[in-house]
Amino acid sequence: MSTLIQNVKTSFQKAFEYPASHLIQAPGRVNLIGEHTDYNDGFVLPCAIDYQTVVAASKREDSIVRVVSVDYQDAVDEFDLKEEIAFSQDKMWANYIRGVVKCLVEKGYDIQGVDLSVSGNVPQGAGLSSSAALEVVIGQTFKVLFGLEISQAEIALIGQKAENEFVGCNCGIMDQMISAEGNQNHALLLDCRSLETQAVAMPSDLSVVIINSNKKRGLVDSEYNTRREQCEEAAKTLGVKALRDANMDMLTAKLSELDETVAMRARHVITENDRTVEAAIALAEGNIARMAELMAQSHASMRDDFEITVDEIDSLVDIVKGVVGEQGGVRMTGGGFGGCIVALVPPQLVDAVKQAVEEKYQMLTGLEASIYVCQASKGAGLIESDAL
Ligand code: GLA
Repeated sequence: MSTLIQNVKTSFQKAFEYPASHLIQAPGRVNLIGEHTDYNDGFVLPCAIDYQTVVAASKREDSIVRVVSVDYQDAVDEFDLKEEIAFSQDKMWANYIRGVVKCLVEKGYDIQGVDLSVSGNVPQGAGLSSSAALEVVIGQTFKVLFGLEISQAEIALIGQKAENEFVGCNCGIMDQMISAEGNQNHALLLDCRSLETQAVAMPSDLSVVIINSNKKRGLVDSEYNTRREQCEEAAKTLGVKALRDANMDMLTAKLSELDETVAMRARHVITENDRTVEAAIALAEGNIARMAELMAQSHASMRDDFEITVDEIDSLVDIVKGVVGEQGGVRMTGGGFGGCIVALVPPQLVDAVKQAVEEKYQMLTGLEASIYVCQASKGAGLIESDAL
């Protein structure tokens, strides 16, 4: 994180010609299990990772927000809280910030202008929630600078609202919640209906290994939205508010009334929800063999019933499984159609996993994978301020 901190401090000083008063961060995330369950009111089990978005910030006495983006060659954005905050056609990165600030204004939070410099090292477009990290760090920055009475869950909800309604991406609540509420060395079992959380200690003898397939993600938004609609259709036919309220008996009883594909989607969500609750117990007990089984079942369900994996991802999962066997778990993570896999690997096998991926993945797919060995990290918060 130190390079990020240095970069935002330097670019802040350069752009605004005075030093920032506060440094704030929010992390990206990896989901261990519970995929496409969040918008079905179900459970997810993600952890925050040690890749973050960092902001250097200072309050202003007027209503102007000025932003400089280190990752876009010090591009700048500027808008006024007293005027309608509009969608930027040419600066997509700025819309995550504008969207969050607009929500804060609309909800009546007592804020003023700020100067901000932003930079992140969460890989973009990889399914590790770089956009949620950006939304959450902006909410957190306003909370810290203006001492707002706002819960971490509310910051997450504002980030999600900005993404749904301002940026126009129909995501669930998982990514923002884990970025806002993550705990060091813990995963978080999150109930996406009540937003209750339960921290689950990560076994110290497991490393979190994320492998990016570097498969360009195509059709993500349209496929994601189709899955959401299919889940809603299934819930309606089963007579429940959301698939979280259904079980396999209810699905079996209504099979003849459901389109075959819709029934497969529902089976994924119902079984994945059960697996997620069980995985939280297995992880807490350090029952790695059970966790590994559940992750394998989750992957098969995403591949066969939810149909969101691609060949490159399936190959990566097979390569890693070939090395870790029952000593660790592996599955696709995130929305699907490319992106990353996540593996829980005994530390002594991490090098063997890397070696197997290097030897086989490119040969099988023509692509080169990127490997990140991560720590479960804490959620958004203040890094340092003048007052500390
Ligand atoms: C994306 C969305 C999340 C969640 C996952 C699938 O990451 O942003 O809300 O739906 O896909 O589990």
